[in-house]
Amino acid sequence: MSIIRKAIIPVAGFGTRFLPVTKSIPKEMIPIIDKPTIQYIVEEAVDSGITDILLVTSKHKKSIEDYFDNFKELESVLEKSKNYEMLEMIKKLSNMVNITFVRQKEQNGLGHAIYHGKTFVGDEPFCVLLGDDIVHNDNKPCLKQLIECHEKHGGTILGVQEVERKDVSKYGIVDGEKIGDSLYKVNNLIEKPSIEEAPTNVAILGRYVISPSIFSHLEKASSGKLGEIQLTDSLVKLIDDEDVFAYTFEGTRYDIGDKVGYLKATIDFSLRDQKMKGIITNYLGEKLK
Ligand code: UTP
Repeated sequence: MSIIRKAIIPVAGFGTRFLPVTKSIPKEMIPIIDKPTIQYIVEEAVDSGITDILLVTSKHKKSIEDYFDNFKELESVLEKSKNYEMLEMIKKLSNMVNITFVRQKEQNGLGHAIYHGKTFVGDEPFCVLLGDDIVHNDNKPCLKQLIECHEKHGGTILGVQEVERKDVSKYGIVDGEKIGDSLYKVNNLIEKPSIEEAPTNVAILGRYVISPSIFSHLEKASSGKLGEIQLTDSLVKLIDDEDVFAYTFEGTRYDIGDKVGYLKATIDFSLRDQKMKGIITNYLGEKLK
């Protein structure tokens, strides 16, 4: 079994749920405290053993490319002012992983964005992390849990958690049999079903390990629901030929593309920060009196 070392992070979407700020600031650059969302996601990939990342961007997302580039002028200012702590942080950021970029010229959906990684991936299984989903787990990163599941069972692994039934229409929903504590064998997937259509409340939440065979399906894919090329439709095609599993990962997932998800992440991360925890707890206590 090959070691998984490549990941695709699609960040080319318009971020319409977060307008107006996303008119000129990519949602992936919106900070949770002092780090942009994309950094949390890249760090999760690196901490899971990923060495090569492809970011699928678009013309409005240049600031993401700049963020992971060298910034020599800033480094020399920090060096002169002996601000070595910040200097280390800035240098580490541009050196932490090998990142390449490809542009998705038209935003034709997640499946279309992932297809841009065909040459980058070659014939190895690879990971996908959505650019607007942060998953927090202090012990083991979500992606590492999925990679370990792949090492044990092979096949394609979809990172899932149960969601409230009223929310099923926001997600790709799994139809499958439970074959272990945290594992389902997937029989079908339904993208954004109505509550009545949804076979379960087990939702795909922005993390995947995918077989390279997906590209032959994405190549032939046409627009599905909402006129976009859906990744889910090609994953369904995979089920006929290969094992597709859904793995219930441990961790708290935040949808940063959604305003409430973003606020929850900001509060939780501030409460996890030793310096801010006391101040924010008192502040929230006062507000909630
Ligand atoms: P979303 O549907 O959450 O992102 O796609 P969006 O389209 O930017 O957001 P809204 O719904 O308009 O607010 C999930 C991920 O897939 C990327 C997005 O950038 C996001 O990280 N994506 C989506 C692409 O890269 N290309 C696309 O054509 C669509």
